[in-house]
Amino acid sequence: MNLTGPIGVFDSGYGGLTVLKEIRNRLPQYDFLYLGDNARSPYGNRSFDVVYEYTLEAVNELFSRGCPLVILACNTASAKALRTIQQNDLPHLAPHNRVLGVIRPSTEVIGAMTKTGHVGVLATEGTVRSESYVIELHKFSPDTRVVQQACPMWVPLIENGSHMTDAGKVFIQDDVNALLRQDPKIDVIVLGCTHYPLISDYIQQIVPEGIQVISQGPIVAEKLESYLIAHPEIENRCLKNGKIQFLTSENTDVFNAKAQGFLGIEIFSEHVHF
Ligand code: DGL
Repeated sequence: MNLTGPIGVFDSGYGGLTVLKEIRNRLPQYDFLYLGDNARSPYGNRSFDVVYEYTLEAVNELFSRGCPLVILACNTASAKALRTIQQNDLPHLAPHNRVLGVIRPSTEVIGAMTKTGHVGVLATEGTVRSESYVIELHKFSPDTRVVQQACPMWVPLIENGSHMTDAGKVFIQDDVNALLRQDPKIDVIVLGCTHYPLISDYIQQIVPEGIQVISQGPIVAEKLESYLIAHPEIENRCLKNGKIQFLTSENTDVFNAKAQGFLGIEIFSEHVHF
């Protein structure tokens, strides 16, 4: 079962495209298969069991289409499902395949970016509750103080395209202010949800000068490159024709239009039923 195939990239919806874009810029030679579970997005407020079940279905779908490696380009899935899939499911499902997340690579480097030693994390309710950022960041930077703010409205706003309306901006402003109130010494804000880079310019505008707003995409892309160099047994199974394909559990026309606008390439997605 050591077949070759594209690298799978999964998200609950459009957010993972922010990661795919950066990965593709860095590693254009590889083939990619993106899966957006748009019909069941957002995952952010869902229970552990549901996020795990949905994520496992998505991973299985990508494996069945030949992906030797799947990136969970979704923090909520990385926080709630990754470990169980890696430890319990992978050994009997597809022992030669791999599933990686986006929290670990981010927390490996974030500690080095802060001068004050105070980091803020903006994420979904599920990611915040899991404490994954706090736990992982403390492994690499034990002295860093981490505060988190859940932003339950942001993914729904971004998924339906109303994030830059006046009402959308009020939600964003309120949550950013709530984060800064928790710790005014923050000098690094991590966008701990792959949807949020779509509003990173706006967030950067509304935070005090001197605060860096960090998106995960470039970090994940760099770490993936290192991973592929360190794991030739996986790298050899990744197709390299520079091809990119898309799957969505929602309406393909809607997905194509939105994803196209975002990635700047023509997209013909295929519907996948869960
Ligand atoms: N992009 C997902 C993340 O990084 C969004 C989760 C959701 O669907 O709420 O957490």
